[in-house]
Order: sequence, then structure tokens, then C-alpha cells
Amino acid sequence: MNFLSISETSPAGIEEIMQLAQSVKHNRLRYAVSLLGKQVVFLFERPSTRTRVSFDVAVNHLGGHAISLDFPQTQLSRGESIADTGRVLGRYADCIVARLFRQEDLVELATHARIPVINGLTDEEHPCQAMSDLFTMRERGKLASGRRFCFIGDASRNMANSLMLATAKAGMSVTLVTPAACKPQERFLKEARPFAEVKVVHDAVTGIKGADVVYADVWAEPGHESESASKLADFDGLQLNADLLKHAADDAIVMHPLPAHRGLEITSDVMDGRQSAVWDQAENRLHVQKALLLKLLQKD
Ligand code: CP
Repeated sequence: MNFLSISETSPAGIEEIMQLAQSVKHNRLRYAVSLLGKQVVFLFERPSTRTRVSFDVAVNHLGGHAISLDFPQTQLSRGESIADTGRVLGRYADCIVARLFRQEDLVELATHARIPVINGLTDEEHPCQAMSDLFTMRERGKLASGRRFCFIGDASRNMANSLMLATAKAGMSVTLVTPAACKPQERFLKEARPFAEVKVVHDAVTGIKGADVVYADVWAEPGHESESASKLADFDGLQLNADLLKHAADDAIVMHPLPAHRGLEITSDVMDGRQSAVWDQAENRLHVQKALLLKLLQKD
């Protein structure tokens, strides 16, 4: 009923979303009234460009109606609880897309709203991004058992958590290149490892060797830059630049969830270069989120 975590999605469920997204992307008009009469509330506690706009456009393309709420506009900013907010929104709307800090708050919202809730990012996971990233890999012929996925960044955070689960469930061999101070969370490793090999390395050249997909993530999460500034030295040698990319497969694709810090975790020549899938990746948020909305809201 909800989409809160990649944990809740099986390999078969991932394939179902991939196929639906493919259909939606190439047959837009077929789905033009699929969400007719449906109300989708966006509840955002933190900033967003891609998630907010791609979901808003997705709802509109599907014939539904989107209502966008930032926390300061709501009574949440004056102390109303997440649970009571969920109870009320659930009486008006058909779905909530929420971007919150705490996963616990998202679960609380979903528990009390009793309508489908979609995780638009929390500190723990970014499952919509991970699903659309799988779709981009699939389009580029990289989403296959045995293909090598290399993540470079802070493996202790939301993007790594969701991607580790998603790529492992898709059967890819996963390497997380991360500073020793940013180890992946045991819970996510334990969940991913039955599906595929997941290696953790600290040396970027070792980790990227032969990779089919190279994924650079931010070193300092948007909104957490000041607390992360002291950690930047930990990422020495982990910049995705042309020299490092030479160690990946010749036809490797480069991905980044955006927003990027050009010149920090990724150089502009790589981000704008011939191997970059970054802009298709951003576009695919729209198509995959349409598929998620259809899956959760269209019951026939
Ligand atoms: N990648 C992503 O979620 O972008 P926004 O923060 O702009 O939504």
C-alpha cells in the first residue's frame, strides 16, 4: 500500500515497476486520465527541485490533482503532530508524497493516514531515486545479473542504503567505495547480501575497476554541508574524474542523483561527458514515479 523503502520491494516488484515505467514513458497519452479525480498531497519538510517537480508533473500528466505543502505552511510548524496531520490528510486525499528528515516520522504518517504514502526522501532512504536509477541502468543495458555497480560516496547514508538494496535485488554485483569513517549500515548490508555480492572498499581505483555503472554521490548532503565540512578530508581520492573513470569498463555509464557539487565529488568533464547518463537519469524520475503512482493508486 505504501512505498517507504526498497526493503518492501521484491525483485519481481522491481521488474513490474520497470515494465510499467517503460510503457508510461513511451505511451504518455494512454495514461492521461488514469488518476482522474485523485488528489495527491506533497508534504515537504526539506527543499527539493527534482522530486517535487517530477511528481507534480507526473500527477498532472496522469490526470490527477496535486496539492503542495511545505512544513511552514502547515500546522506542523506550530506543533500539530505528524499522526494528526496524517489522520486529516487521509480524509481528503488519495496519496501523500512526503519528504521528511526522519524515517520514523514517515512511518508514523503512513500508519495514521491510511492512504498510500510515498517516501520522497528521508535521512534513511531515497527509494524513488533508486528505482528510477535502476530504470536508467535498464535503458542503457546495464541492469543485468552480474553487471558491476560501483557507488562512490558516503555509504552510511540514504542514497547508498536504497541503491545497495535496489541494485543487489536486481542481481548486480555491488561495490561501495567509501571512507573508513562512512561504513555502510549493517542492517542494509545484511539485507542486500542474500541477493548479490556487496563489497566495501576504501580505495577508488580498486573499487571502480571494470565497473559497468559508476555512481557518484554527494559527500555532504544538501542541508548538512556545515556538519559535513569537517569530514571532507575523509573523501580525499574519491573524486570521480576522468583519470579515475579510465579504470571502469570502456562503456561504463556515469550517474549522479543531483544536485551535484561540480569539482568536488564529480568533475564537470565527467558529468557532461560522453559516458554521462545524468540528465536521462533526472528525466526518468518523472516516468518511474508515474509508474509508482499508478501501482499504488490504480487498482484495476
Ligand atoms: N535527487 C533529488 O532527490 O533531487 P531533489 O533534492 O532536487 O528533489
